[in-house]
This record gives sequence, structure tokens and C-alpha cells, in this order.
Amino acid sequence: MRRRHFDALRPLCPNCRSQGVESALRIGAVARERGSLVLEGALHCSRAGCQAEYPIIDGVPILVAGVRAFITDNLLYLLARDDLSSHAESMLGDGSGPGSAFNTTRQFLSSYAWDHYADLDPQEPASEPRPGAVIRTLDRGLELLGGVPEGPAIEIGCSVGRTSFEMAARHRGLVLGVDVNVSMIRLAARVLVEGEVRYPRRQVGIVFERRTLPARFPDADRVDFWIADALALPFADATFALAVSLNVLDCVPAPYAFLGEIARVLAGGGGAVLSTPYDWSPGATPVEAWIGGHSQRGPNRGAAEPFVRSLLDGTHPQAVPGLRLVGEDADSPWHVRLHARSTMLYRNHLLALRAGRA
Ligand SMILES: C[S@@+](CC[C@H](N)C(=O)[O-])C[C@H]1O[C@@H](n2cnc3c(N)ncnc32)[C@H](O)[C@@H]1O
Repeated sequence: MRRRHFDALRPLCPNCRSQGVESALRIGAVARERGSLVLEGALHCSRAGCQAEYPIIDGVPILVAGVRAFITDNLLYLLARDDLSSHAESMLGDGSGPGSAFNTTRQFLSSYAWDHYADLDPQEPASEPRPGAVIRTLDRGLELLGGVPEGPAIEIGCSVGRTSFEMAARHRGLVLGVDVNVSMIRLAARVLVEGEVRYPRRQVGIVFERRTLPARFPDADRVDFWIADALALPFADATFALAVSLNVLDCVPAPYAFLGEIARVLAGGGGAVLSTPYDWSPGATPVEAWIGGHSQRGPNRGAAEPFVRSLLDGTHPQAVPGLRLVGEDADSPWHVRLHARSTMLYRNHLLALRAGRA
């Protein structure tokens, strides 16, 4: 955690926020530090009636309400080793088998790290499909949006982090990437701290090849990564000038609340770039909360695009006040590499939004 980001963004205690109280956090014990980066330590709630403690591990603060439950659920990932040889890892992969937490995590890291960083990998073949969907989508989204005022930027659901580094190259303020996936955000933090990407690139089945490559970004000193929930961001209203969230809308349990949270943290005149393939799954989002993808008999025949537009132009009963659609692409291509012989193509809906009443 960069002290500069902590000081500028003034995070609020997530526990207190969940009870409707705003209380500031302060930096407590610091056990490990490198320059202005706190690698291990704790943040404390300043309110006498709360005094919750939020750990900072491997440079990443865990800023969620119910931090004990989060730690319990994520202990395996918080304690995961990254010093094993690929020989030892392959034995753990074979031993735990397909579908194990170990191999599922490797699969996710493989797909996301490939898209985010394989363009920097001299070993990566130049053939199709091309990595870098996040960068192309960000560039097109910012083009649709036009300018935003000065101020900090947030990437919500930053995964392994490349978009946040690219946001810093295109926007002058501080950039914060937040996510709740420990393995993914640890990879992002490693890029920040070590200037290196290390990821398991899936070949086939449970066969993965370890890739290590340098990844240094000139504006990395303005980037930081925190664990925080998209539905309960630990910030005061109107903290950010820019919010970017690529392919997250259809991964959260409450998509309307997610849009509302973006509206809340954006300052007046600020802007947001969102993309989504509306790839709903009941495991992530209950069907009643899907934006489209159900109720084929209704006026939109189950289509997501008119539904999301009506949420943003105020004509839907559950409309999101404070966000207005200013540009969109209906068909933004996005490849997800699954393994050496399998790639999936999403066609995303890309949305540029402006903070302000419809
Ligand atoms: C489909 S991935 C997209 C990742 C990244 N934005 C990209 O485009 O490569 C969805 C991301 O949202 C994150 N996510 C899901 N629910 C979240 C939540 N409630 N708060 C923060 N991040 C969340 C996941 O951990 C994952 O990194």
C-alpha cells in the first residue's frame, strides 16, 4: 500500500460504513516497508466503538467489512507460496487434480495474466488471438467518454492489474485498482513491487508453463492495489474523477447496486467506462438481479442493452440516479485464452457514462 494513496484517498472503515457510519482509518503497526510502500502492517478504525483492524499483506490492504470472514474464506490464497519450482507445482497440480482450488486458480491466472501481460512476453507467438483486450477496450472507452476532470481514478475489479497501469499512462491523477480476488490482486501487487509478472500459462488440461517476464510501467508510482468490494467501496462520496470497470457488472451479486456505487464515488462531471458481455451465471448473480437475460416475454424480450439504457436514462423504476450514458459500442471484441488450443470470443457492450442527473 502506498502511503501517498492512503493519504489522498482517505479510506473509511468498511465495518462502520456497513452500519451507515463514516470513520477514518489510520495506519497502525508497520512490520515491513520498502520506500513508501507498506508491505506488511495494519490499518485501524479510529472510532472508539469499532477499532476494527485491517491487515496489509504482501503490499495489499484488505479493506472489506467482515474482514475475519474474508480471511477465513481466503486463507489458502493469502498463504499461497510463489517460491516453488514449476516441477513441484506440477506435482501439486497433478496430485490435487482438475477442479481443485489450486488448478482453478492457475486457470484464472493463466487467462487474465495472458490478456494483461502476454504482449510484453518475448516468448509469446505473434499469431492470433492477440492479448491486450483490456488495453484496447480502455482506449476505446476513454475515446467514447471524452475528457474527465483532474482527480483520482479507480479501477473496480482490476484483476491482475494491467488496466490500472494503462490508466495511469492516460490519466494524470492517482490510480487505485481494487478487487476481491486475492490471487489475482497479488499478481498485480507483485508487478508494482517487483516490476515482474510471474504466471502459470496453461498449455492443456492441468499442464501449465511458468512464465516470468519484466513489466515496468513508467507511471507505476501513481498506481496502488487494494482489496475492496465493488458493492461497498470504502470511500466517501465523490472521491474519484474516473472509474473503469471491465467485465465486472455480470460478476457481482447486485448489478444495480454496483452501478449505484459507481455513481456514488464519482465526483460531478466525472466519468466511467464499463464493459460487459452480460455473461450471467446464477452462481455470481441471482436471476432476478440480472440486467436482461431473462423474462423473454417482457417489452425488451430479455435483451440487456435496452434494459441497461433505461436504468441510465431514468425511465426504469430502478433507474440509477447520477449516471448518464454518453457513448456506447454494441460489439466490442474480447478474447479469453483458455488453453493453447482454445480461446473464447466475447462481444462486449462498452459503455461510457458521465456523472450527473439524467
Ligand atoms: C471477469 S473478471 C474481469 C477482470 C478484469 N477487469 C479484466 O477485464 O481482465 C471480473 C473481476 O471482478 C472481480 N470481482 C468480482 N466481484 C467483485 C466484487 N464484489 N468486488 C471487487 N471485485 C470483484 C473478480 O475478482 C475479477 O477480477
